[in-house]
Amino acid sequence: MEIKKVGICGCGLMGSGIAEVASKAGMKVVIREVNDDFLKKGMGRIEKSLSKAVEKGKLDEAGKKAVLDNISGTTEIDDLKDCDIVCEAIVENLNTKLELYKHLDTIVKKEAIFASNTSSLSITEMGAVTKRADQFCGLHFFNPVPVMKLVEVVKTVATSDATFQTAKTFGEKLGKVVVSCQDTPGFVVNRLLVPYMLDAIRALEQGVATKEDIDNGMKLGCAYPMGPLELTDFVGLDTTYYIAEILFEEFKDHHYAAPPLLKAMVKAGYHGRKTGRGFYDYSKK
Ligand code: 3HC
Repeated sequence: MEIKKVGICGCGLMGSGIAEVASKAGMKVVIREVNDDFLKKGMGRIEKSLSKAVEKGKLDEAGKKAVLDNISGTTEIDDLKDCDIVCEAIVENLNTKLELYKHLDTIVKKEAIFASNTSSLSITEMGAVTKRADQFCGLHFFNPVPVMKLVEVVKTVATSDATFQTAKTFGEKLGKVVVSCQDTPGFVVNRLLVPYMLDAIRALEQGVATKEDIDNGMKLGCAYPMGPLELTDFVGLDTTYYIAEILFEEFKDHHYAAPPLLKAMVKAGYHGRKTGRGFYDYSKK
């Protein structure tokens, strides 16, 4: 099936990024949020990202207008009914996702594919609450979506080969390199990335080095764009903690156990860039 119309649930950081790249790839996009405030904020993020591209000479004003005109924002779930694929990027709460999928299954056309952008929850469990588990897969994008070249396409035991192929082709049309993987916690990237971030926090906790030296070590020693603590601030300490808990619950391996420092910082509301404070202070930026 050729994907011409893309539905997106959730206009947060990831949903708005997916909307932007899908529209840039020439597809019609309908993006749904639960209320007008969230929708306005998400659409504003897309506008800002496109304006930055215009400033940098990567896009002209007409191109920006065309990308925006291709995206329609809505708070009505029924507006997703004739989409060929629905990508879900709502809050990482399994019950909320299950409720959404049960509802989507009753309104979205029968041939459409469902794809979750979850970073660590079970795609299989989500597919199982619908009557289209064979048309269900994961499409895990990376932040910032317009910049990061990767998408993980996740196959469950129930995903049909045709669905998997359509999802792969869709990812490639968005300009991404596809990594295929099975539905296991953390897929490929977070399974490797999260213990690395947690180990960096443990190194800080144990006084191995300062946060700046830990970050510089990995940035300059391994040519990573960000050091592990800077990256944890970027991803969100709450998100990192949440993913670590899911991975630990599954694997019972100490590498996935959240260090006490991470837990304490999350409890203190130091969630990283988005709250103005994480390992570093962003309040003046
Ligand atoms: N939207 C669109 N473009 C953006 C952008 C955004 N939000 N943020 C940055 N860019 C573009 C800039 O326009 C610039 O483009 P140019 O080189 O063509 O001019 C380029 O990206 C570099 O940006 P900057 O010069 O402003 O800043 P940096 O060089 O510091 O790069 C960064 C910023 C791209 C975020 C870089 O630091 C980076 O790659 N960091 C690592 C990000 C990462 O690892 N992401 C994955 C996180 S894990 C994840 O998402 C999985 C989840 O499940 C946890």
